[in-house]
Amino acid sequence: MGEINKDQVVDLSKPAGEGMVRVTFEPEGRTVEFPFDSLPYEGHGEPMSFLDVAENFDIFLDHACGGVCACTTCHLWVKDGANGISEPEDKELDRMETAADLQLNSRLGCQAVIEKPGTYVVEIPKWNRNYVQEGKPAVAVKND
Ligand code: FES
Repeated sequence: MGEINKDQVVDLSKPAGEGMVRVTFEPEGRTVEFPFDSLPYEGHGEPMSFLDVAENFDIFLDHACGGVCACTTCHLWVKDGANGISEPEDKELDRMETAADLQLNSRLGCQAVIEKPGTYVVEIPKWNRNYVQEGKPAVAVKND
């Protein structure tokens, strides 16, 4: 198992290499790539979940409950690669019913596990980005 290069620049003009996992985190547009099954477990969420990947590469994905499916702060939308990801279990589905901005491609980042090499794109919802920008939880205000 080699060192993780957290500052890697992935050449997006080429497809992910054989046996590699490529994950892009939107809206930041940060892409990481690593051999499947090569990351050490960072102790947050399921091993090889998007949260685990984010933690490995110092990418901010909120996880208020520590990655145990007890909040929804790790909510993300899977925009590409859904068929390489574990099916949600009942506990994730139940928990997600309480999430804001629920979409058909919604998953909890700590529960959705990458099960095979391939290319994955996930988007972290806006309210989670606000959290990063302002350093505090964003208050959801909806005017309609
Ligand atoms: S971090 Fe709390 S449910 Fe994923």
